[in-house]
Amino acid sequence: MTKEKGYILLTPGPTPLPPSVRAAMAEPILHHRTEEFGQLFDFVIKEMQYVYRTQNTVLMMTTSGTGAMESAVANLLSPGDKAVVHSTGAFGDRFVAILKAYGLAPAVVSENWGHAASPEKLRDALKSNRDAKAVFLQHTDTSTGVVNDLRTLASVAHEIAPEALVVVDSVSGLAAEALETDAWGLDVVLTGSQKGLMAAPGLAFAAISAKAWRLVEAGRLPRFYFDWRTMRKSLPDRETPYTPGVTLVAGQAEALRIIRKEGIENVWRRTAELAQYTRAWAQRRGLSLFAKDPANILTAVNLPEGVDGQALIAEILRQDGISIAGGQLKLKGKIVRIAHMGYISRADLDAGFAALERRLSQVRV
Ligand SMILES: Cc1ncc(COP(=O)(O)O)c(C=O)c1O
Repeated sequence: MTKEKGYILLTPGPTPLPPSVRAAMAEPILHHRTEEFGQLFDFVIKEMQYVYRTQNTVLMMTTSGTGAMESAVANLLSPGDKAVVHSTGAFGDRFVAILKAYGLAPAVVSENWGHAASPEKLRDALKSNRDAKAVFLQHTDTSTGVVNDLRTLASVAHEIAPEALVVVDSVSGLAAEALETDAWGLDVVLTGSQKGLMAAPGLAFAAISAKAWRLVEAGRLPRFYFDWRTMRKSLPDRETPYTPGVTLVAGQAEALRIIRKEGIENVWRRTAELAQYTRAWAQRRGLSLFAKDPANILTAVNLPEGVDGQALIAEILRQDGISIAGGQLKLKGKIVRIAHMGYISRADLDAGFAALERRLSQVRV
């Protein structure tokens, strides 16, 4: 895969776009209440079911991943409802913040950053919250580069709190790491267009089970733009209730064509190979991994003592034209996160490794 001029993006979202996805977005714009757009939208929804490995309803929203997360809280819960969040980093903490913004008081299980969610800790938390309406989990936490064992976590939830919905943030995991919505019994899986889905930022999706719809119907939190009931009502007409990001939908449709052609299991396999490749490079260079349970979507590498991580990535962007993510919040300046999902290629990674090696030796004290 070759790239034309411009930055090489090695960031965990947005990720680079295949040229045909960019070309699809450069086509003349469609009106959203037309047969042509209806076909495109319908295609995107059906192909998302393929990527999600689900027969459940898939909704599309014109928003980013956080909007999808907020929509899940607003639609699934009611005032006073109990919820459990198992957080492995910044994005699990975001679920906590959203729940609190809606006046709810979730029970929170937090892992030390870099560690995956422990099924035993979830078991204990659910034993004292068997009446929880929902359990919020992350597939991959992009802030730490960790992957969670969703299959096991979901089975613990089903066993201890069978009434609770399993709600998953797979904003960075979908179309990169293995995920089986139906086989693992995941009631709601949320994602965004700008990572494994190889499209521009601005679309989000939710796959919603029949069990979850019962809570949506009964929910008593305020919602309007993000009301899933309104979105579902428009689906048979192959429409969204309000003006969707038409251009983004055209790009997403093309990216989904590419994913279907490769096959979702091959996408998972290719991403895993790139992750292995990156971990092997880090090991050769004597750089330790931040994550104890590393994901395939990105590799978080600890920087040697005395390296200013923020200056390092700024310098790589300025001099090499390569965009690499640093650490977030408490990891700022301490790690770099090298993404290998979506359209990121081995050649992109090689360029990133070379730049890191060059600049690391320059900024080392
Ligand atoms: C795991 C995870 N959840 C949620 C989000 C939030 O998505 P957005 O920035 O699209 O709102 C991100 C974005 O990086 C993410 O990686």
